Amino acid sequence: MCGIVGYTGHREAYPIVIKGLKRLEYRGYDSTGVALLNGGLKVYKKKGRVADLEEFLVGKDLHSHIGIGHTRWATHGEPSDRNAHPHTSNSGKLTMIHNGIIENYAQIKKELLTKGYTFTSDTDTEVLLNFIEDIKENNECNLEEAVRVALKRITGAYCILLLDEADPETIIAARKGSPLVIGVGKGEHFLGSDASPMLEYTKEVVYINDYELAIVRPDELILKNLGNEKITPFVTKLDLKLAAIEKGGYEHFMLKEIFEQPSTILDCLRGRLDASAGMITMSGVQQNIEAFKTAGRIIIVACGTSWHAGLLAEYIIEELCRIPVEVEYASEFRYRNPVINKGDIIIAISQSGETADTLVAINRAKEQGAIIFGIVNVVGSSIARLSNGGAYTHAGPEIGVASTKAFTGQLAVLTMMALKIAKEKGTIADERYTQLLFELESVPEKVEALLKNADAIEAIAEKYKDASDALFLGRGYNFPIALEGALKLKEISYIHAEGYPAAEMKHGPIALVTATLPVVFIATNDTYHEKIISNIQEIKARKGKVIAIITEGDDVIPGLADDVFYVPAADEIIAPILSCVPLQLLSYYMGIARGVDVDKPRNLAKSVTVE
Ligand code: F6R
Repeated sequence: MCGIVGYTGHREAYPIVIKGLKRLEYRGYDSTGVALLNGGLKVYKKKGRVADLEEFLVGKDLHSHIGIGHTRWATHGEPSDRNAHPHTSNSGKLTMIHNGIIENYAQIKKELLTKGYTFTSDTDTEVLLNFIEDIKENNECNLEEAVRVALKRITGAYCILLLDEADPETIIAARKGSPLVIGVGKGEHFLGSDASPMLEYTKEVVYINDYELAIVRPDELILKNLGNEKITPFVTKLDLKLAAIEKGGYEHFMLKEIFEQPSTILDCLRGRLDASAGMITMSGVQQNIEAFKTAGRIIIVACGTSWHAGLLAEYIIEELCRIPVEVEYASEFRYRNPVINKGDIIIAISQSGETADTLVAINRAKEQGAIIFGIVNVVGSSIARLSNGGAYTHAGPEIGVASTKAFTGQLAVLTMMALKIAKEKGTIADERYTQLLFELESVPEKVEALLKNADAIEAIAEKYKDASDALFLGRGYNFPIALEGALKLKEISYIHAEGYPAAEMKHGPIALVTATLPVVFIATNDTYHEKIISNIQEIKARKGKVIAIITEGDDVIPGLADDVFYVPAADEIIAPILSCVPLQLLSYYMGIARGVDVDKPRNLAKSVTVE
């Protein structure tokens, strides 16, 4: 949440900063601002999108070789010009941007108010900045020292970038809990919440760790801990192409990412799954195979869509590996006092690898001796680095705020893992193992085939676009997909939607059924097929409108449902990777039909780095 960009070097800073902000806009889009330094600090900020600020700045003198920029997801204070970052200190000499939350800001603000400080915004950021200024002036120390002292006194999460009018080449940066990447160029440095702002300039990056402070100049990157000890920057090579973060001819990132799934799932399976050889190669699982084989329990922690992937994994792992699985919301797990036994394995699932609650949850579990296995999309992210082992989903950058291709990547990884563990543990018959390997291998082409009928979903979306509510029902392996379908519809079309196990609807939600309520059944051929047909009939008996996602060749449900969408036949363990795709399309087309900015739905942001 909140995107941060910085540049110091020989080029003009503004074009780099503004372009970087556009790439980071998925992290927040309530307000935008930049600070430049050229014969004095210049701060420009505005409520609204990056494009609004850019338009506002046309014709202004933006010449500067150093700059910072911020795109905000509001925490303290409503989205407005005055709450937008960068904030400027009382003296007017310092300016700062911040991603995170300073939890003890109210107490510090009180202290500063008694000293005569004034505040122009409602933000915790302005408090931290003036706190730093106060320390700098009272202790007569340099900015770096003042930042260090201040950071030791605050609680919460932060990634901050500061400019000092008196030092026109230096950016001071620090992080705890919110991501920061520094790109190393020739006579220049780039800073970003992720590497996207620096892609065309350098492939050499340094991922900054918690409690590290960076002093960044054109020719110099000094890294220190909060104890003022120098740390050698660890330079990593970026493996990310510019095309991966562009729309590539699609109208929205979300649509591009939905249509990318045949290739992202293939990338996820590539080099790991060889059905003909009967092999799954996953080095992270292999390294921990004894722990998995003897695990008394697996606890999965995640949030949102990633949590839904975890729920499906519970069904699959219990079925194939016979290991008890619990699936926890990271935000709950971190504040409970969960029982973690020796031999328990924690699986953390996260697209961004930066979700604050998931990060803290695994930290807690690690302190208690649990083995942490990370299933993460963003390479080099905090969760990936904190895990004892793991597997990347290899879905490539996901920029649309609603998670789509990362979800199918998570399902593919989790299914492969379960199959590998089951094989090693001897809990799966050889024939079933081989069959599921071939089934998994055929997923990319099946997704490709069903995407060819996207128009059919568009027509369904057009028909139901004025609905105010919707129900999503599924049983067994399709229940987590019902939850995911409902979440997608809520966030992308603003239609209130609930996901339920189909049989559970009789225990309450059936009261909502009227002739105008669309009820989406995920009813592919599986063990529960006959049962779910009864559930469809129960809805039809009450005149509800039934949209059903069914398997090709199903000749019963088309006679009952108002609308159907066919997915290729697949084993019931594999089918959810297919049946979630039409639901992604449904939410996309519903959102478009209702005029929603689907890549940036209201109030949301990708990468939730605040709790
Ligand atoms: C929904 C969505 C969110 C994320 C959740 C966790 O479309 O994207 O629910 O799944 O915020 O994010 P990660 O996976 O980055 O930890």
